Amino acid sequence: MRPLTVVGNWKMQGDKLSIRCLLDDLVDHIPCADHFKCVVLPSFMFIPDVANRLNFSSLQWGAQNLSHHSQGAYTGEISGSMLAEFGCQYVLVGHSERRQYHHETNELVAQKFLMAQQCGLIPILCVGETLVEYETHQTLAVLTQQIEAVLSLLGEEMQAFANAVIAYEPIWAIGTGKTATPEYAEQIHAHIRACIEARNPTVARQVSVIYGGSVKADNARSLLVMPNIDGVLVGGASLHAQEFLTICQQAMGNQ
Ligand code: PGA
Repeated sequence: MRPLTVVGNWKMQGDKLSIRCLLDDLVDHIPCADHFKCVVLPSFMFIPDVANRLNFSSLQWGAQNLSHHSQGAYTGEISGSMLAEFGCQYVLVGHSERRQYHHETNELVAQKFLMAQQCGLIPILCVGETLVEYETHQTLAVLTQQIEAVLSLLGEEMQAFANAVIAYEPIWAIGTGKTATPEYAEQIHAHIRACIEARNPTVARQVSVIYGGSVKADNARSLLVMPNIDGVLVGGASLHAQEFLTICQQAMGNQ
């Protein structure tokens, strides 16, 4: 049975005080169950505070990006081993905002994926199509390319994918209030799993595929009941404790 994973992507938001309040609410009320994972992804600056507060809680934490280099003269970059040292268990790779604003290519994202795994982090590989690609029916081709870039870099190490998370985030749904319908998302998640199944059916059954893009308390349940949707990646709504906790409760209710 695949776990249900709820991830909160805080992006470049919050300050020390607001994050302390958010963490207090989450720690006090987060539901706890087997096969349920809840992960928060603060900005790099807040990771030490988050690590201190969440240590010994059932919440896990991670980062929103990492360097594809292991170490060296790369000013302004942060390595996977630094994140691991601060207790991060997860890291996003290839979020659409990184692909769009920082020109991250499929090949660079694949290198980051590999580096995350080498540092003992679980990569959350973000994939998704733009509005134009969606409207011109290129979604499946775009997703296949994004996933294949990682699979070909992994090569014989394909088994490593079993311990990764894939987040399907249609770019037209991120921060726009538009959500893919549960039926549409389910169809795309099934396609993602089929891409992996073509290489390794066992890994395809194990890998978690989660949905992101304007997930809120009032639409999470309808997405989470779908058989190929193994959780949600939540942006804006994850900054509101009550809303995020409701989404977590809905995920647990589906087990
Ligand atoms: P959103 O962001 O929930 O605010 O649409 C999702 C994301 O970018 O991960």
